[in-house]
Amino acid sequence: MRGQYCSSGIFLIVLTIFGLSSAQLSKLMPEEFPEDFIIHVGGGSSTGPSGTKWAVLVAGSMGYGNYRHQADVCHAYQILKTRGLKDENIIVFMYDDIAYDPENPRPGVIINKPDGPDVYHGVPKDYTGENVTAANLYAVILGDKSNLSGGSGKVLNSGPNDSVFIYYTDHGGPGIIGMPVGDFVYANDLVDVLIKKHEANAYKNMVFYLESCESGSMFQGLLPTNISIYATTAANATESSWGTYCPDMTPPPPPEYDTCLGDLYSISWMEDCDLELSQETLEEQYQKVKWRTINNTYGSHVTQFGNLQQTVDLLALYLGSTDNSSSIESKSSQSSLDVVDNRDADLLHLGTSSNVLPLALKSSRKLKRLWMMKLQAGSASTTI
Ligand SMILES: *[C@@H]1O[C@H](CO)[C@@H](O)[C@H](O)[C@H]1NC(C)=O
Ligand SMILES: *[C@@H]1O[C@H](CO)[C@@H](O)[C@H](O)[C@H]1NC(C)=O
Ligand SMILES: *[C@@H]1O[C@H](CO)[C@@H](O)[C@H](O)[C@H]1NC(C)=O
Ligand SMILES: *[C@@H]1O[C@H](CO)[C@@H](O)[C@H](O)[C@H]1NC(C)=O
Ligand SMILES: *[C@@H]1O[C@H](CO)[C@@H](O)[C@H](O)[C@H]1NC(C)=O
Ligand SMILES: *[C@@H]1O[C@H](CO)[C@@H](O)[C@H](O)[C@H]1NC(C)=O
Ligand SMILES: *[C@@H]1O[C@H](CO)[C@@H](O)[C@H](O)[C@H]1NC(C)=O
Repeated sequence: MRGQYCSSGIFLIVLTIFGLSSAQLSKLMPEEFPEDFIIHVGGGSSTGPSGTKWAVLVAGSMGYGNYRHQADVCHAYQILKTRGLKDENIIVFMYDDIAYDPENPRPGVIINKPDGPDVYHGVPKDYTGENVTAANLYAVILGDKSNLSGGSGKVLNSGPNDSVFIYYTDHGGPGIIGMPVGDFVYANDLVDVLIKKHEANAYKNMVFYLESCESGSMFQGLLPTNISIYATTAANATESSWGTYCPDMTPPPPPEYDTCLGDLYSISWMEDCDLELSQETLEEQYQKVKWRTINNTYGSHVTQFGNLQQTVDLLALYLGSTDNSSSIESKSSQSSLDVVDNRDADLLHLGTSSNVLPLALKSSRKLKRLWMMKLQAGSASTTI
């Protein structure tokens, strides 16, 4: 039952072999039944204390059936904008085919919650349509304009005092996440890009929030703990993450919507942000998001990676704040806490009992196919 709707890694690998993109997964959506939460949406603006706040927001899918991913990204943009980040520092990747899709009952409007406001207005169209590619994402993160192909040309031009927030949402699988055009984003490649960014001394601290099935596999055993990046993922390395506000769920989207409006982990962190808790730390948000994401008929284990010392930082250090009365410093970079990340001990999953695609095999189609056949023969196929 659970796996029946999950767009897990096996689908992505099948699609790799048949040359399709994650976009064709539009009718295969994870399902779950969220609790009813009350949110308050506030307004205002803020200025950063020291350093500039940057953000990269990525919806990895296309198609009306994947409405929720672009809705998530639009909502994230509104949060950052409300909290004082500037458009010049927010880089958005979204296919941008939802707002005016003929199936959208409210043309020009995107919502991320059944009774939620329009989140589409004002969203920068930096990388849309054919320009939403893994290669462009890497070039943007690295600030490498010469390697861009299309798009607005906006890149993460951050300096050594700046904070960076990256948020990605889409379908994924073991060691891979989707993009609407071209190749997947592979875990090794993504982490290599992040390491390069650190080597370039191009940020002070970074936070990466990632939603997809098996999202933990993008960082587990790969993301170093000593490059000032703290990450959370919607799911651990071996499970699905879930869409929410879907038809026939409680609460459902408005009756005219035949699609899910959001993803559970994503709306959990964003609706927490909508509460405007200006003194909340990353750890406090993690605890709330984790609870809301697991405590459902269908749920997943939100998981932390990277430099856990950053969990004492205020969210406002990365996402801005409507409360501009006090200066927000990085507490993690001042503290000398000796936090050990036990995931350092996790090596790549090469065991035959694992559902995780061995990352070493990622470049080999033939091996991928063999691995898939193994999955089809085994218990892992129940996640299809
Ligand atoms: C451009 O990107 C490709 C792959 O994304 C990489 O191999 C190449 O080194 C990059 N070029 C430059 C000049 O950074
Ligand atoms: C891709 O980027 C190029 C260059 O900015 C632009 O001309 C083109 O319209 C973009 N394509 C889409 C589908 O947005
Ligand atoms: C970063 O901050 C330090 C200390 O406040 C300052 O000396 C330095 O000039 C800043 N660097 C940049 C590139 O802004
Ligand atoms: C991080 O730790 C690894 C493993 O101990 C080491 O090889 C690497 O040089 C360190 N990187 C930085 C930036 O300190
Ligand atoms: C990962 O998720 C699976 C499936 O929900 C669960 O059985 C397993 O205990 C989880 N592992 C961790 C480390 O959270
Ligand atoms: C799950 O949510 C319900 C209803 O909100 C609550 O009563 C229950 O304590 C929660 N369970 C856990 C394990 O947090
Ligand atoms: C916060 O910034 C806004 C707009 O810049 C300003 O109107 C407001 O007075 C500031 N609030 C505080 C408490 O400084």
